[in-house]
Amino acid sequence: MPLQLGDTVPNFTQDSTEGPINLYEYAGDSWVILFSHPKDFTPVCTTELGAVAKLMPEFQKRNVKVLGLSVDSNESHKGWLNDIEETQGAKLNFPLIADHDRKVANLYNMIHPNEDNVFTVRTVFVIDPNKKLRLTLTYPAPTGRNFDEILRVVDSLQMTDKHKVATPVNWKQGEDVIILPSVNNQEAAVMFPSGWKELKPYLRVTAQPKG
Ligand code: BEZ
Repeated sequence: MPLQLGDTVPNFTQDSTEGPINLYEYAGDSWVILFSHPKDFTPVCTTELGAVAKLMPEFQKRNVKVLGLSVDSNESHKGWLNDIEETQGAKLNFPLIADHDRKVANLYNMIHPNEDNVFTVRTVFVIDPNKKLRLTLTYPAPTGRNFDEILRVVDSLQMTDKHKVATPVNWKQGEDVIILPSVNNQEAAVMFPSGWKELKPYLRVTAQPKG
């Protein structure tokens, strides 16, 4: 059965460009973004890995550790890193798992045989510090992911974990949020003293809570 949101993610130990990685030890108390790409020395993946390396300060600000994966060997990965640095102007600053025996790919259902029965599709798993799965994304091989969107989801998850709010369509950090329908107006008055705008009893908009 594929992993579902809210599941505790399975642990693994696998080779990587930074030596053997045990997921739970690597994660510690951080969030983790585990993402797969189909193959080394491919153009879209090259741009993705460069972009993720450049976004590292943003991941760090959010206490997020990053872990890439492909089913190629460490030897192959190491050669490819030079190309990423040369073409994208960014040195890889996170481990890239060498899932040569497809241990992790199978555990996380990253191979979709009707798409390709050898290589992984582009998956993204956002894992919280309790090792719970909080987001999954699956993209096809020809389409590069939008990592700004993944950061946006992390912002939403981290904020909505702390406050009884949800984030509306296309929300970005600092914009208004929605008070959860499970919070009644009496409780809302205590939680959101600056008030809210009630468009419908179930649609109450308030400023993003601080902290
Ligand atoms: C790529 O990363 O460029 C790619 C990989 C597999 C199929 C198509 C594109």
